[in-house]
Amino acid sequence: SIFSHPDFDGHEAVHAFCDTESGLRAFIAVHNTNRGPASGGTRFWTYASDGDALADVLRLSRAMSYKNAMAQLDIGGGKAVILRPEGAFDRNALFAAYGRSVETIGGTYITAEDVGVSPADMAVIKTQTDNVAGLSEGDNASGDPSPVTAEGVFRGIRVAAERAYGSPDLNGRRVAIQGLGSVGYALAEHLAHVGADLQVADIDTSRLARAEKELGATIVDTNDILSADVDILAPCALGGAINSDSLPAIRASIVAGAANNQLRTPDMAEALTARGILYAPDYVINAGGIINVAAEVAGRYDVAWVQTKLDQLEETLGEVFDRAASEGRTTASIANEMAQERMAVIRDWR
Ligand code: NAI
Repeated sequence: SIFSHPDFDGHEAVHAFCDTESGLRAFIAVHNTNRGPASGGTRFWTYASDGDALADVLRLSRAMSYKNAMAQLDIGGGKAVILRPEGAFDRNALFAAYGRSVETIGGTYITAEDVGVSPADMAVIKTQTDNVAGLSEGDNASGDPSPVTAEGVFRGIRVAAERAYGSPDLNGRRVAIQGLGSVGYALAEHLAHVGADLQVADIDTSRLARAEKELGATIVDTNDILSADVDILAPCALGGAINSDSLPAIRASIVAGAANNQLRTPDMAEALTARGILYAPDYVINAGGIINVAAEVAGRYDVAWVQTKLDQLEETLGEVFDRAASEGRTTASIANEMAQERMAVIRDWR
């Protein structure tokens, strides 16, 4: 039963939607609305089974609650996944049906984009519901969140470098990036700009040549990127990069990237610490995108406010590192504790 699902615990609601005509099958998970309407992106992905999709949405929605609380945003945590139909389908009809689904849950969930969803898909969702943000056009439109996510991750990497090497300067630092998508590529640009030495991998080869040509990056096989001989490893593909198979081969001394749920299992936090690897908790440093979205949700998109929140992200990460060092605990455990405290704050928003 869903109630005994290992990742269900703590969720307020999980909605399953089906639309026969368009082929829509989607889950929307509302984890926590203490701070505001549950906000998080919609992922459009091919799942091996419904169970895999459900596990993904539950883990992602919980991570959104932690992320949004940690960034002290006036939004709660939720996430959605749409199971990519097998065979041909009408994309606009599918996303319109999805928009109607979002509308039925009455503003307890506000969507944005995640992996596999384009700005055009977002515009289609918007035709059916106002509970959508991260739009390219319209009042307070905040646009694609990915560049802001990349900026936050870049800032987080500098904070981590300062702890590990005594300086945030990344000139000459070797960085491996797994996944050169919207965030990974923008992160690579930031890093190249300050003189970092990049190694990159992606299962989709289309952006690799550009990274090699424009950013001087070295292309690495996707099977070797996690064990690349680098200072910093930035997982920017999907979740679970840090697991019992990959961990022994990691050569980086810092793990700091954009991907959600980088630790496949919670015990990886201790395993990283035991190997002397400094881990910047994923949801602490990848909050830039949702910060940008939150400005739109609040109806006052303001670049200066977003920048202030990114400064705060750096301070929060610094506090996580300080407390982990002084209390002899993992950075993940400290971050979880801080996020849980911030999540317990109930705001009267309804
Ligand atoms: P994206 O879909 O644009 O990029 C993901 C990239 O990873 C794709 O190019 C894909 O081919 C590649 N990839 C997938 N599996 C791979 C593998 N095994 N090895 C190497 N490359 C692989 O997605 P986006 O938006 O860049 O997001 C990346 C990660 O960051 C995701 O985990 C996402 O949930 C997370 N994230 C994204 C935010 C955003 O603002 N876009 C905000 C916070 C987190």
